[in-house]
Amino acid sequence: MVKIAIITYSVYGHITLLAREIAKGIESTGNEVSIFRVAETLSQEVLDQIHAPPPPKDIPVISADDLKNYDAFIIGIPTRFGNAPAQITNFFDSTGGLWASGALYHKPVGLFTSTSSGGGKETTLRSALSWVTHQGMLYVPLGYAKVFGELADISANQGATPWGAGTIAGPDGSRLPTKNDLKIAYTQGEEFANVSAKLTGVPATKAPAKKSAAESTTEAAAGTTTGAAAAAATTEVKKADAATAKPVEKKATPEEKSAAKCCVIM
Ligand SMILES: Cc1cc2nc3c(=O)[nH]c(=O)nc-3n(C[C@H](O)[C@H](O)[C@H](O)COP(=O)(O)O)c2cc1C
Repeated sequence: MVKIAIITYSVYGHITLLAREIAKGIESTGNEVSIFRVAETLSQEVLDQIHAPPPPKDIPVISADDLKNYDAFIIGIPTRFGNAPAQITNFFDSTGGLWASGALYHKPVGLFTSTSSGGGKETTLRSALSWVTHQGMLYVPLGYAKVFGELADISANQGATPWGAGTIAGPDGSRLPTKNDLKIAYTQGEEFANVSAKLTGVPATKAPAKKSAAESTTEAAAGTTTGAAAAAATTEVKKADAATAKPVEKKATPEEKSAAKCCVIM
């Protein structure tokens, strides 16, 4: 079983929502996945000023040494002026020892992003390739082959690119990942895990596939305003439980709530 770490930085939860969906795609292949976040570099005072919610309790901070325990990585990078945030590059800068020992050499890596308007969604991921290259890692792009229809869907502002999954958070950060964004994220997880198994030669143990959120819930909030997004996030979404034929309720996750409430951001 390939051990995959999803490494994130997420202030308002959009990257975290995509990471959870990518994780479901990985799990559907029978491989192992853990989600981490990089250390915050902003002071609590600044975080309060930008109304950042507390980070998710179930997602631990990763250290450079932790990378040694994993076979492959997917990194979630929200844009900052078309580049990776300092928090991500700070983490990259802490991996000098791994670079010197070649610990990450030929390990597969995938990337995904979040932007408020779409500006910089590809350059942000490209900016990470310098680190990937110096480590001698194997970049596995999303490409078009498995998600042509989703990437070509221009009915809503498109967060993903062939570089990786993505979402558009909106100018005030209130827009949630769309059904399309979630489906692409799930597929990226699935495909990345399958390719990583080939590249690393580690056989996967097939486990029951989990449905993507895109398949199992109604669309989150494509193109919505703050109020509508908040409503979409907090409204209980009902779906038929195939096993019991009873309706079950899906409550908004903390990330959906914080993404729907948030404020800033260009
Ligand atoms: C300093 C700064 C620069 C940003 N630059 C851009 C940008 O160039 N293009 C863009 O679309 N969004 C930009 N954003 C918005 C973030 O990308 C957005 O907040 C993020 O994708 C939300 O992800 P999260 O909910 O996971 O934190 C910027 C935000 C900040 C704080």
